[in-house]
Amino acid sequence: MLHLPQVYYAPPDYESVPAGEWRGRTVVVIDVLRATSTLVTALAEGVKEVRCFREISEARAYANGKPAVALAGEREGVAPEGFNFGNSPREFLGAGNRYETVVLTTTNGTRALEAVKPAACVVLCSFLNFSVVVDFLRKNAHGLERNFAIVCSGTGELFALEDGLLAGALLSELGLPHPAAKLYESCVGRLREAFYASKNGKNLRKLGLEADIDWCLQRDKYRILPTLQEDGGISN
Ligand code: MLT
Repeated sequence: MLHLPQVYYAPPDYESVPAGEWRGRTVVVIDVLRATSTLVTALAEGVKEVRCFREISEARAYANGKPAVALAGEREGVAPEGFNFGNSPREFLGAGNRYETVVLTTTNGTRALEAVKPAACVVLCSFLNFSVVVDFLRKNAHGLERNFAIVCSGTGELFALEDGLLAGALLSELGLPHPAAKLYESCVGRLREAFYASKNGKNLRKLGLEADIDWCLQRDKYRILPTLQEDGGISN
C-alpha cells in the first residue's frame, strides 16, 4: 500500500523545497497542457531523448550545430523564433524519423523539472501515459513508502486545474484518499469541460489550439514511462 504522497501544486510550493529534500524521493511531474503531454508524444513517436532547459538561450546553446537535434517549446504558448517545433504534441507525430533528440524549453514544465532534478527518480506523467505511471507506482509501492511526491507544474506562479485533475486521477486510481482525488472524482465525465474552462485551456483556445486540449485528454494512447536519466536526458 502506498503512503499518501506530498502534492505540490504550483512553483512557489515546489521551488521552496531545499534540494536536499528531493534526494531519495520518487517524483511524478505533471504538466498536462502541455509540456509532459508533448514530451510523452515525442518519445512515443520515436525521438530517443528529450533534454529540458529552463531558458531559451540554454536550449539554443545545447542544440547549436547538432544536426539531429530539434529545438522545441513555447513562450506565451508560441514557439520562440527559429525553433523547429512549438509545444504542441500533435507536431511531433513521426518526429523520430527526423530527429534523435528534442531540446525543450517551456514556461512551467521545464521549470518544474529543473526544481526536482536532485530527486532519486523523476517520472513524467500525462493522461497519454496514465496507466503506465499507475502500474509503475503500484509495482514500486513497497520501496516508495513516504518518499513519493507529485509535482504539478502550474501556470505562471499559480495552480493549473488540469494538473490538479491528473494528480487527482492518479491518487484516485491508486485508492489514496486525498483532496486532489476528490477534485478529480467530482469532475469525472466533465474533464473536457474543465480543461476548456481552465486558464491554460482558454489560452490555447485563443491561439486556435483547442485540438491540443483534446489531444492531451486522450487517456492511455501511449505505453511509455519517460524518466529523467543521470546525464540529464529524458528517455523511455
Ligand atoms: C508550460 O510548460 O508552461 C506549458 O506547457 C505551456 C504551454 O504549453 O503553452
